Amino acid sequence: MEKKEKLYEGKAKQIYAVEDERYLIMTYKDEATAFDGAKKGIIENKGIVNNRVSCLLFKMLEERGIETHLVEQIDDRNVMVKRLNMLPVEVVLRNVVAGSLSKRLGMEEGTALSEPIVELYYKNDDLHDPMINEYHARVLGWATLEQLEDMQKQGLEINQILLKFFDDIGVILVDFKLEFGVYDGRIVLGDEISPDSCRLWDKVSLEKLDKDRFRRDMGGEAEAYQEVVTRIEKVLG
Ligand code: TMP
Ligand code: ASP
Repeated sequence: MEKKEKLYEGKAKQIYAVEDERYLIMTYKDEATAFDGAKKGIIENKGIVNNRVSCLLFKMLEERGIETHLVEQIDDRNVMVKRLNMLPVEVVLRNVVAGSLSKRLGMEEGTALSEPIVELYYKNDDLHDPMINEYHARVLGWATLEQLEDMQKQGLEINQILLKFFDDIGVILVDFKLEFGVYDGRIVLGDEISPDSCRLWDKVSLEKLDKDRFRRDMGGEAEAYQEVVTRIEKVLG
């Protein structure tokens, strides 16, 4: 199926309609942004890596009983997905203290959590994706309580699967962000799971293998992204 009109262009991806209304094509770009678009740059081959990583992880999750939007990878930057009705609620899972949790609650980055923490954010760049709770999402009409419970339960299941998967390839899954949508009335995992949306630390050196290298001007982001896809492909490729 060919790309038809462009429906949406986000910071890291473009979304195209296809003939079949149940599907879409997502095209991954190399553009990187941080701090809600305030910082901009290019990470070479990021689009290729994120498409590959996301497709491999979504396929693995499907095999473990998690429904995702993945239909099939078309080529290095393009993927056919189910056309979800996206909910404007981001679900963040945390296994180790880092990033905004570290800043907000004054805890040292790298502190292990005794069990995962689930957080909800309202997806809105102008407001800088503020943290919300179930009441905000439900009362303000962004998702029903049933949908919120489903998203959080799936988030915890996905975390268990990915935590073990990354551990086996020598990577600590510190935290990550998920986005869900509705498809045929079901809550289905959409968007991407990639070094853009996860914190991934090498288990031995604790070296960062994710977008924090870009956010924090550390350099070496293209190499770090490549390292992640190489390790994943050794197992799933
Ligand atoms: P945070 O510590 O900045 O709240 O980020 C938590 C996780 O969510 C981290 O793995 C990065 C990911 N994330 C996104 O994918 N998109 C975003 O806009 C933000 C702020 C975080
Ligand atoms: N994705 C967000 C942005 O583009 C924030 C981030 O990843 O740090 O600005």
